[in-house]
Amino acid sequence: MELFNAIAKRHSYRGSFKDIAITKQDLQKIVQAGIDAPSGCNAQTTSFIIVDDEKILDKLNEIVSGKAMNTAKAVIVVLSYPIEAYYDMSFAKEDYSAAVENILLAVTALGYATVWIDGQIRREEKAEKIARLLDVPNNLIVRVVLPIGVPKVKKEQKAKLPFNERAWFNGYKK
Ligand SMILES: Cc1cc2nc3c(=O)[nH]c(=O)nc-3n(C[C@H](O)[C@H](O)[C@H](O)COP(=O)(O)O)c2cc1C
Repeated sequence: MELFNAIAKRHSYRGSFKDIAITKQDLQKIVQAGIDAPSGCNAQTTSFIIVDDEKILDKLNEIVSGKAMNTAKAVIVVLSYPIEAYYDMSFAKEDYSAAVENILLAVTALGYATVWIDGQIRREEKAEKIARLLDVPNNLIVRVVLPIGVPKVKKEQKAKLPFNERAWFNGYKK
């Protein structure tokens, strides 16, 4: 899929997925898109666990629920290493955000769908429970889970404000 088409077609999908497996090759391609994202000082603070084992998927679903998590053929768990990369500055949040967006576009380009689950896992110690399930070391933070599959229902990206309400040439609101 052409890049600008993938950007327009990307949407948050929270519905059920079809019973169609995702090949390891596609999963690797999707996660490579995350690895290829930029990071502050090229510190590469983001890492990934790809879960495609049904037993582990079931256990993840006990922690994070919803139709997408329930029926996902794979879940990518995004980990962040919150180090100071430049003087006392950490770019870890920006790093994982860039990686996740690349992954969302790759997922879309390959005909799958997903949703960026982030806020939801910061409650009720869900991120910590996921970390324990997947043997994530204490110095890394589980930031995002991305349930992936072939969507059962066709959905669209949420409407965005028009260009001239969010962007201007050569000065604010010019
Ligand atoms: C930082 C961030 C956190 C998010 N957390 C969640 C979440 O916990 N659960 C969820 O269902 N969607 C979550 N989303 C998805 C947004 O709700 C979604 O992107 C937004 O409503 C716009 O819809 P669209 O993705 O279809 O354009 C998150 C998105 C971002 C960028």
